[in-house]
Amino acid sequence: STHPCFLFLSLDRALSTISLRVILFFIAFVGYCLYVWHIHQKYDHIPGPPRDNFLLGHIPTFRREMNSDRVIHDRFLEWTEKYGPVYRINTFHTVSLVVSCPEATKEILMSPKYSKDPLAYKRIFHLFGLRFLGNGLVTAVDHDTWYKQRRIMDPAFSSSYLRGLMDTFNERAECLMQHLEVIAEERTIANMHRMVNCVTLDVICKVAFGVDLDLLKHPDSPFPNAIDLCLQGMIQDIRDPFFRHSPWNRKKVREIQEAVKLLRTTGAKWINQRRKAVENAEDVPKDILTKILKTAGKQAPMNEDFHVINVLFLGQETTASQLSFAIMELGRHPEILKRTKEEVDEVLGTRRDVLYEDLGKLTYLTQVSWEMSYSLPLYISKVFLINVSSKVFSSYITSRMEKFFKDPLKFDPERFHPDASKPYFSYYPFSLGPRSCLGQTFSQMEAKVVLTKFLQRFDFSLVPGQSFDIKDTGSLRPRSGVLCTIKHCAKSTF
Ligand code: HEM
Repeated sequence: STHPCFLFLSLDRALSTISLRVILFFIAFVGYCLYVWHIHQKYDHIPGPPRDNFLLGHIPTFRREMNSDRVIHDRFLEWTEKYGPVYRINTFHTVSLVVSCPEATKEILMSPKYSKDPLAYKRIFHLFGLRFLGNGLVTAVDHDTWYKQRRIMDPAFSSSYLRGLMDTFNERAECLMQHLEVIAEERTIANMHRMVNCVTLDVICKVAFGVDLDLLKHPDSPFPNAIDLCLQGMIQDIRDPFFRHSPWNRKKVREIQEAVKLLRTTGAKWINQRRKAVENAEDVPKDILTKILKTAGKQAPMNEDFHVINVLFLGQETTASQLSFAIMELGRHPEILKRTKEEVDEVLGTRRDVLYEDLGKLTYLTQVSWEMSYSLPLYISKVFLINVSSKVFSSYITSRMEKFFKDPLKFDPERFHPDASKPYFSYYPFSLGPRSCLGQTFSQMEAKVVLTKFLQRFDFSLVPGQSFDIKDTGSLRPRSGVLCTIKHCAKSTF
């Protein structure tokens, strides 16, 4: 048996190891606090709201905003009004500058010499431990990686290619119209956001990946919910680094991980099928999926699913929100609705499908569309690295400032009249410069086709009593879902 002296010795050794660890931890902690203090000293000359906490910085405010179900960007807007065109926010040892000054916006967003902030975009490389947006088009920070992908993807967004998508836009919009016919006949209430969300997801899956989801007919599909969950998870994780660690959120985190897995396995399946089709020399469309395969080169197919997730994320929810906000605003402004409908009737007459040539003639609808993106506060947060601090740009903020726009919250398509002066780097819902939205024309064509058909065929009114507020779920969407009662237009022959 062991002598009590040895027992005593090993206990003593264990205690000294523990105390050494505690001391080391303490020294590291003090060192880290000193570093945070140094960063504060370096940047505190820049105005900014008071920090909630020395280490956490402004994180508690972000958490409060999210828990109270407010739009977090409204807080940024308040701070911009209070602290000026460049102000500071802190999280741990990082400092971000929120910039609303048009000159700086022009200089930084338009120039290729500033890259996206690797720290910020790395946060969405993975989601709760699973690879998510990876090194895709939107998240790629390194210029060469991004440029290679963008060059391969560009042809899938060229005007000649997009022109060929008009049939798909029309066909998918037509499915929505048929769905709305039934709702009109049965006099039930239409949740427009839910429906346009199905259409935009159908469209992107069809044109990008050659897949027919037909979500209006398959309302139980787990796909829209998975995208929604991932979006929520992504935003929670970015705004609140403690979210994933809280035991109360364990169930939610697991749900989100399942959603990521679903999107990834589906993406991998689509890539695999297309790869086989290419190998068997079958006729394949020159769509985004084919471009993804080119980007992938000869790598294993399972590693490229994040490209699919990138496209799904970028190409769907944004357009759906823009459409549903537009329907909401048109419903609230009968005069503007009347004028838009008149233009649609003039351009389309009794023709059922929207032609590519019609899009250019629908000038007032284009104005409405721009104003929609304007009153619809699309969140753009571009973060660039200069020295230590990163810069955050948000069109939500600038488009709501009296300084740049008269009566900014008023829905007023005249702002975007072709003869009106263009906003000077204060309105950029699709971002600006080399990293601007690749799908801008795509989304505007799609939105116009859906809206044109809807306005040509139906009269609608908003169900009274619903909220017109914005819900911040990462992207911004109408809180109520835009509930409408729908009637077949007396003039419509369809
Ligand atoms: C109303 C609809 C849309 C809005 C407001 C919008 C907005 C934006 C914004 C703000 C960015 C920059 C994001 C960042 O740098 O962090 C972006 C990037 C991008 N968007 Fe869109 N988008 C829309 C629709 C679409 C659609 C329909 C597609 C594709 C079918 C698409 C594809 C892309 C791509 C590929 C990028 C990455 C570009 C790059 O970094 O090279 N977007 N979009």
